[in-house]
Amino acid sequence: MDYGIVNGKVYYQDRWVRADIGIKDGEIRVIKKKLDVDVYIDAYNKCVLPGVIDAHVHLRDMNQKHKEDFKTGTLAAAHGGVTTVLDMPNTEPPTTSLDAINQKEELRRDTAVHVEFFGGIKNNLPEIMSMKDKIIGYKIYMDSTPLHVSKPELREIFEFFAKNKINKRISVHVDDSELTKRIGKQKISEIRGIEFISNLSRQFGIKVNICHVSTPEGIKIISQNPNLTCEVTPHHLFLNEENFGFADTNPPLRNQRDIAGLWKNLDQVDIIASDHAPHTMEEKHEGAEGFPGLETTLPLLLNAIVCRRLLPSRLIALISRNPARIFGLTDKGEIKPGYCANLTIVDFHKKYKIRGEDLYTKCGWTPFEGWEGKGAPTHTIVDGRILMKDGVLLD
Ligand code: DOR
Ligand code: ZN
Ligand code: ZN
Repeated sequence: MDYGIVNGKVYYQDRWVRADIGIKDGEIRVIKKKLDVDVYIDAYNKCVLPGVIDAHVHLRDMNQKHKEDFKTGTLAAAHGGVTTVLDMPNTEPPTTSLDAINQKEELRRDTAVHVEFFGGIKNNLPEIMSMKDKIIGYKIYMDSTPLHVSKPELREIFEFFAKNKINKRISVHVDDSELTKRIGKQKISEIRGIEFISNLSRQFGIKVNICHVSTPEGIKIISQNPNLTCEVTPHHLFLNEENFGFADTNPPLRNQRDIAGLWKNLDQVDIIASDHAPHTMEEKHEGAEGFPGLETTLPLLLNAIVCRRLLPSRLIALISRNPARIFGLTDKGEIKPGYCANLTIVDFHKKYKIRGEDLYTKCGWTPFEGWEGKGAPTHTIVDGRILMKDGVLLD
């Protein structure tokens, strides 16, 4: 063994066990009661989780380097206990061609954590095939941003997927931001969008992941269609529409009643993903939509466990096992011999206070400024490499 992780509580074969983990050549080799190793991490009083996978991240870079780049974004991930990020294609330039994917592959050469890409779909049916083997899934935007896809186009795309038997998951942003603004942030835009996609997915037998669902009504529709999975974000679970002055995000924050509905229906949700969408403070004051989230998701959810709003086993499904299964990351999402040594160690006793100035994201602020809680990641391990130790990033 290269080293062991000893004395921890390990989530193994769907239950918590006291066990040691042996790691060699970037792989999990053994899980057993007592491991005889000279080099080890002592995880006494801590829990060892399969590495956290954030299925919805905007790493930016290129022409939006001022917001975030691959280096700062993946350091933020490591600092937040996240070992894999799935990067969204609404960049400048957008990830809608093989060339664009190749450009991003260069950027991820020396990143801290694993980065996988979504391929964007926008007037590029031929590129759908050429990008296929280099991406984790496809992404479609129904909102009024540059990658907007119309309803007739959506039909063509689904038909194309069915005809070519493309089995990669399509993630869809269903909320139309223009419609939402026009009608005053009502929920109808999201609900109608989900209904439309649900019908298409049934008609063509295509599996779809619905991004950042913010309404209990939306979750209900999704749960009735086995072709659909969905994500919820921490900001929709923890922040309401009156939280503070720069709350723009798409879909919008909801009221206390909807938030309670999201928590109540969390059993029907597949993934919690941050939708890490960094913008500078100036841009936020001008109405830019979205929040950074890579470094706050895990502490907020661990605190929810401490407060008995969530079970630890559910958390692992939502932030690791399900995203791995849904997006086909076959050696991730579980602690198992032969699996990739991506691990997140957490301490449920550790108290924290969130401060923008402590974060690694380039944007340097958080909507959770000053929030206090209990439960934080202490170690982030990627391919057996220890990126964070006792809460401190190593160089
Ligand atoms: O709030 C949002 N920000 N929603 C999106 O769909 C896009 C994201 C971004 O890229 O900033
Ligand atoms: Zn979105
Ligand atoms: Zn997004």
